[in-house]
Order: sequence, then structure tokens, then C-alpha cells
Amino acid sequence: MKPVTFNNTVLRDGHQSLAATRMSTAQMLHAAPILDEMGFSGLETWGGATIDSCLRYLNENPFDRLRALKKAAPKTPQIMLLRGQNIVQYTSFPDDVVEAFVRADAAAGQDVFRIFDALNDTRNLKTCIDTVLDCKKHARGEICYTTSPVHTVEAFVKMGIELEKMGCHSIGIKDMSGIMTPKIAYDLVKELKRKVGLPITLHTHDTAGLGAAAYLAAIEAGVDTVETSIVPFANGTGQPDTVRMLALLEGNPRRPDYDPAKLQELRLHFEEVYQQLSKFTSPANERVDSDILVFQVPGGMLSNFRNQLAEQGMADKFDEVVREIPVVREALGWIPLVTPTSQIVGTQAMMNIKFGRWKMICQPAQDIALGKYGKPPGPINPEILALVEKQTNSKAITTRPADLLQPGLEGYRQQCADKGLPTDDETVVLFAMFPQQIEALVKGTPAAEAKPAPAKPAPAAAPLVPPPSAATHVLSRHQMVLSIDGKRHEVTVEKMAN
Ligand code: CO
Repeated sequence: MKPVTFNNTVLRDGHQSLAATRMSTAQMLHAAPILDEMGFSGLETWGGATIDSCLRYLNENPFDRLRALKKAAPKTPQIMLLRGQNIVQYTSFPDDVVEAFVRADAAAGQDVFRIFDALNDTRNLKTCIDTVLDCKKHARGEICYTTSPVHTVEAFVKMGIELEKMGCHSIGIKDMSGIMTPKIAYDLVKELKRKVGLPITLHTHDTAGLGAAAYLAAIEAGVDTVETSIVPFANGTGQPDTVRMLALLEGNPRRPDYDPAKLQELRLHFEEVYQQLSKFTSPANERVDSDILVFQVPGGMLSNFRNQLAEQGMADKFDEVVREIPVVREALGWIPLVTPTSQIVGTQAMMNIKFGRWKMICQPAQDIALGKYGKPPGPINPEILALVEKQTNSKAITTRPADLLQPGLEGYRQQCADKGLPTDDETVVLFAMFPQQIEALVKGTPAAEAKPAPAKPAPAAAPLVPPPSAATHVLSRHQMVLSIDGKRHEVTVEKMAN
């Protein structure tokens, strides 16, 4: 069997997981040519939270970063993480905006698109995959891993077969919480290799200390590629370290060969960068924490959760609320816990404990029940669905959520023109997602002064979430604080007469 290959994640997931996504392009450029010389099968450099972070905190144009990295590391394919129809935001965008984004990114030099949907609803991946194929770039369809009675190896393999039929060039397994055991890694890779004729990549996190062992088991089962990072942007909530992984493979016939002297040079560079980013690093991210295995929820979610409960004066209810999470997940069709669904499930669990089970349902949880995020992996509890339909005076949808959206690109382009911004596709797609931030960047207002605010929908686009009907009689209102990727969002919870 041929050697396994490594993709390196230090320039994206490494600092997103361990330093709040704050690595700047300047801090990357010294390392990029060395990373390029290593012979890695890919460098993950873009997407996820990096685009938001470039605009919001680093005063950088993310497309300029991509071009700079392509110039500094031209030989190795560069990978981006793409949230399907949500692009790099939290709600669905119209197809024409998604297409324009992928085309602009492909034109700027992106080679590989890792495309996922929080619900594993492949309809939410279709526009991205079709456009990537049309641009003659590499489409890697991702299977989000989670545990539940409906998340069986058979179900994941079925999704892999579907991704192959949709034209993906490779399959990624995305274990965002780092909860995949070596046994599951082995079984899943083995079955996918048997039933799907595509290269398989495993992506995990070392949050619970399982990452490297899961990689070893996957390599045993024939996985083509695993993703590693460079210390100190590795291990803990990040990917296992490259040097560590090579040592674990000592004597293994599938061990790849990566220059140890260059790896040491990279490590020294990134030690310096880690020091520079010390304001954003935290011992809680560096350590291995088995909490995640006990509670089966992502580590980042638990730390957010402790803060949120304290803010709500519910610090003593932690155990009760955490035990409520599987109850909420089951009712909402065993939804995976990944941004943004992890925050929604957490908030609803908190509300079930605070107000009584299902006495109040937050709007995002209503939207999940109504199918507005896509088709959940399991059935929605029929009683909860009936309750939500009554509360919202609407019916659950079975169509692809983006089918309900009108084209939006030209509306956003007009808004750019009205504000005196450039009207090229790069600016317009960034404006669609981060209007205040891109305006501040173009007009030279310091990024720190750009106030975080959600994108306004283009005039032509119908809102994904319809405004509450004026006829609904509101009995009471409660303010809750939701934390998504460390950003605070205040939400109003309304109890309706019914
Ligand atoms: Co990751």
C-alpha cells in the first residue's frame, strides 16, 4: 500500500483552533515557502473563520492573503473550508452569491474546496460542488462526524456514495469535535474504501486525546491522507502535530517522509508567532480534556456554556443543562453539534431547564424543526414540530432551503455602488457576508472600529427567516445571549399565545 500523505493545517485550522484565528498574512509569509518545500499533499490556508477574522480584526483583504500565499507557496495545492450554502457565514445565501464566491475564489488561485453542511444535507452542498467542478478545481465533499443512534457507519457511507455521485473528487471525514475513536475511524475508512472509489482524507482534532490514535487506525484501514499541524499550533483543540505523527508511524510501511530539519525550522518560526499571539492563546485549548467524551459535546461549546450559564445566573445548573442536550438533539432529529447548530442546541437546552421542557422554543430551534437549515439526519419529534408549526403559524418545508431565496448578487452589487465601494465580484461577495467590515477595510477605517453586525439581506433576496407575524400575540419576552465562535449575539425569546 502506498504511503499515507499529510495535509498541513497550521495556516488555517491550527491558529483557528488555538489562537482565535488571529495569525496575520505577514506572520505566515516566512513559513509559506518552507511549507511549500515539504511535499505535503495540501496546505489548508483559507476559509472557515479566517475570512471573518481578516476583515474584522486584521484589517486584511482575505483574497489578497490567498494571492500572497499562492505566490509564496505555488507548488502545493491550497485548501479552503467552505460551509456549503452558508459560504463562510451562518445562514443560507442565494445560489448566485454562492456561485460568484466560488468563482472569485477559484480565480484567485484556490485549488481544493472542502465543502460541508452542518446537517450533512447534501442538497446544501450541490451548488458549491457544481461550481467547483465547473471551475475545474478539486471538490472534496465532507462528511461531518457525530454520534447518535442515526449516525451509523452505514449512514455515513451512504452519504459518501452520494458525494461520489455528485462528482466530488475526494471524500473528507470531518471530526470537528475530536470524538472519533480508533475503532470507528478504522471501520468507517474501511467501509468507505470498499464502497466508494475516491481518495479519503480524515480530519480530526486532538481535543480529547484521540486524534493521533484515530489517524493510526485510519492509516491501517487504508486512508489516503490525514491532516496535521505544527507545534505550538497543534495538539489540544488543534490537529495532531506532524513530528509526533511521524514518530507514531516509525516502522510503519505507510510512513511518509517529511524533512525533519525543515519541520524544526517551521516549529521555531511558529513558536515566535505563538508568542506574538499570546493574548489569544489559552491553556484550556492546549490541554487534552476528556469532558468532551463524557458529555459528547464539542470542547469549545462547553467553555462557552459555562460562561453563558453564569451570565444567566444558572451556574449551578450546568450538569442538568448538559444532560438536556441529548434530549434537544433527539427532538431536533439528532442534529450534529457544529457551528451554528451547537449554539442553538445549547441555548434550547438552557431554556428547557430554565422555563420547563419546550415551554419556550428559541427561533433558531424553531427554524431547525421547520427544515429551514435543511433536512435533519433523523425525524423531528412530531409533538415538537406540531407545537412549532402552531407557534409560528407556518408549515415545515421539505425543499432545499436556498430554493426559497431570490437571486441576490446584483442587489448586493447595487448596495456596493451606492456606498461608493468597488463592484467587482470579490468585493460584492465579501459585502454580502460582512458589509460593515468590507466597507471599513476599503474606506480605511481601522478594523477594530468596525462594529460586528449581521449582513443585511439584499433588497432582491427574501429573508431566510420570516419576521414574526404581527398577528401573533406575544405573552412574554426574554433576552438570551448566544455565543457563536466567540461573538456574542443577543436573542429575544418570545412566548406566544396559542
Ligand atoms: Co477542524
